[in-house]
Amino acid sequence: LRIAVLISGSGSNLQAIIDGIETGEIDATIVRVISNRPGAGGLERARRHGIDTEVIDHRQFARRADYDRRLAGRLEALAADLVVLAGFMRILGDAFVERFEGQLINIHPSLLPAYRGLHTHERVIADGQRQHGCSVHYVIPELDAGPVIAQAVVPVHADDTPARLEDRVRAMEHRLYPRVVQWIAAGRVAMANRSVVFDGQTG
Ligand code: GRF
Repeated sequence: LRIAVLISGSGSNLQAIIDGIETGEIDATIVRVISNRPGAGGLERARRHGIDTEVIDHRQFARRADYDRRLAGRLEALAADLVVLAGFMRILGDAFVERFEGQLINIHPSLLPAYRGLHTHERVIADGQRQHGCSVHYVIPELDAGPVIAQAVVPVHADDTPARLEDRVRAMEHRLYPRVVQWIAAGRVAMANRSVVFDGQTG
């Protein structure tokens, strides 16, 4: 499986996937890490592991559609089978998403469909929730609304700060995302008609 990973930040989820490949847990190759931010820490992580990196800086494109077209062109040139969004903080337009539908996954820090969007940890605490977590989902044009492949739950403690809760969720992301990538690499998960299919059976 040829994977492209899209990042904007520290790339700790990228690191978890790199580690999964290096330990043999994931049967795939990262053909490139692409960031929309030149300073993204994840670029350095990739380089340290000998992975090709590329910056496609959104500030150099007047329109979102132009950015998306450049990105799509790159991914096609790389013949990526799977595009993994790992802290990629740009909204991708409908045309892009439709072009890669079924080959595009994201990790979101909440138990979707609850808490789509940003600042999930703050909102979960403000609402007094007892549980929180993360979700890996296929991406569809509607934001954070694609079919969920897998989730992991963490408790919310009474004295949690958003930062502590975020750390607890992040640690779970690092366990969940590599597993899902491997399920896809092994052909055990796919998307059909915007539903997740496990082992060829519609759930
Ligand atoms: C994670 O919280 C992920 O759920 C969200 O962005 C963050 C990425 O963190 N989509 P990192 O760059 O992988 O460390």
